[in-house]
Amino acid sequence: MSAANLLNPPNREEMIQKGEIGSFLWSVDSVQLDKYQHIAVEKSRLHIPLLFGYDVIHGFRTVFPVPIAMAGLWDPQVPERAQAFSAREARASGINWTFGPMVDIARDARWGRIVEGAGQDPYLGAAMARAQVRGFQGAELGSPDHVLATVKHFAAEGGRDYDSVYLPETSLRNVYLPPFKAAVDAGVGSLMSAYMDLNDGPSSGNRWLLHDVLRADWSFQGFVVTDALTTNDLIIHGFAKDESDAAYRALTAGVSVDMASRILSAQLPALVQSGKISVAQIDDAARPVLAVKIRMGLFEHPYTDLSKTSAVLSDPATRNYARIAAQRSMVLLRNENHTLPLSKKISSIALIGPLANDGIDLDGGWGVGGETPAVTVEEGLRKKLPNAAIVSARGGEIRRTIPSRFDDLFPSTKKGPPLTAEENSKEIADAVALAQKSEMSVLVLGETANTSGEYASRSTLELPGRQEELLEKIVALGKPVTLVIVSGRPLNISWASAHVPAIVMAWQPGSEAGNAIADILFGDAVPGGKLPVSWPRNAGQEPLYYSHNVTQYPESDPTYRSRYWEGPSTPLYPFGYGLSYTTFSVTDLRLSKTELTAGDHWKPQR
Ligand code: BGC
Repeated sequence: MSAANLLNPPNREEMIQKGEIGSFLWSVDSVQLDKYQHIAVEKSRLHIPLLFGYDVIHGFRTVFPVPIAMAGLWDPQVPERAQAFSAREARASGINWTFGPMVDIARDARWGRIVEGAGQDPYLGAAMARAQVRGFQGAELGSPDHVLATVKHFAAEGGRDYDSVYLPETSLRNVYLPPFKAAVDAGVGSLMSAYMDLNDGPSSGNRWLLHDVLRADWSFQGFVVTDALTTNDLIIHGFAKDESDAAYRALTAGVSVDMASRILSAQLPALVQSGKISVAQIDDAARPVLAVKIRMGLFEHPYTDLSKTSAVLSDPATRNYARIAAQRSMVLLRNENHTLPLSKKISSIALIGPLANDGIDLDGGWGVGGETPAVTVEEGLRKKLPNAAIVSARGGEIRRTIPSRFDDLFPSTKKGPPLTAEENSKEIADAVALAQKSEMSVLVLGETANTSGEYASRSTLELPGRQEELLEKIVALGKPVTLVIVSGRPLNISWASAHVPAIVMAWQPGSEAGNAIADILFGDAVPGGKLPVSWPRNAGQEPLYYSHNVTQYPESDPTYRSRYWEGPSTPLYPFGYGLSYTTFSVTDLRLSKTELTAGDHWKPQR
């Protein structure tokens, strides 16, 4: 079957009626979804309702900041509420199943998917996992206005997409599995097996992971869905010899739902007929899916009330919360001489950079539930300072060298034909000229939606394109400059960190991006983010994480022998770093206990 047919089989209504489809994915057409549910419930032999799955990762119609930004709040209540808003929008549109939260620990910013998770720390990762499961599912599966969550990608994907991972069980159990365990303990209803292989056993055929750890150790009650084409990838990994073998290995490892390979449905009948798989094994795989559908209340309430959809999708409370979350998640990296907040009396601003005016890039990856562009930075600044002269220039473009596979699926992330070198140079020169004429410049630099995320790993962390050149030329004018970074990962801003007095990491802030950035720049909100990752000086330092085993004297020790002869091995900004507009100190802290035994807890005391 062709890729297009795989996602969109031409005879799907007939297939639903025959009971050959249990879930339907990647459509946001509420009317179509409703129609399919009616066919499944009213016309199929067993009347089993369908699951409608979609990647509601950081928002649906209203886009919230990307998950890495939310993690930097260190406040699980915010992602919990945000995911509850997203669940409500999705559910009102007919979606009842999301492929989130993504809880992979990421310790290497070159991995594009670092943007989808909570960063490098298992404790923070577990807190974010729990919060998001609660946000998506509500207090329990079946809560009204909520959706079924999927914790992914089980387990330990975290360097490059779909790669091999070799990890000792200690590090797996201490670092990579805790967020998954937290999601399971919070009652997550489904779990996605990853593309990658763990210690030579591809996850979707890895019985140790999917059965021994997940079911036997953790008593997981939900079902396992493979990542999109992973059943097929068991063959690519050389783990299964053909489709029949792949189906056998996936099912016997613990998979219930083959997301998109169609290999299980095609191969299982023959495997049962030949006696290789028993009907009891098929029942065991189907049971958790049915149990989840029952616990979700789908048999009693299979349909969506479409008369309410548009009111839910335009509820201002959701937009308000997206703005608050975006403001609070921004990280103030540098603020020499209290440069920020800026004065509202500024008469003219040059707003410069390829991210200042692109609403889709400000939404970030997976911000696609309707493809509604975010408020741009220019729109935000104009609303904030209606009387100032605000001029803007792109200053050159950001372009992938190798296109993303997602560009065809999410056409809004596609750019027009590439600029020539001369056209880029002209845009840079025009931007410098505007900066020269203005009282100050705000530069918005970083990464586009399709240069962070899946299919977006990198071998360097430089500002893509000619943004570094643009930045340095504008700083050389000697006028005030504020730098706002929009991206899904830390980038190499070593030069900026020494030459630009004010730097804000805005991440990919979502629908309210421009308003929230303006709020932060002009002091109507205080940046509250603290880095959930160690910010490297350059890509060569990666993987970089604070809880590295101490294996040599620290850099502060005189006997230290440098790890790199070109520069320090410490991060540019450490894990947990983030300034504020205010200053405060916490003094006189004491511990309730100074010695701990296993299972003990301590609390700070005043
Ligand atoms: C990604 C998953 C995603 C799935 C469905 C895959 O390529 O790895 O994270 O949920 O596609 O869209």
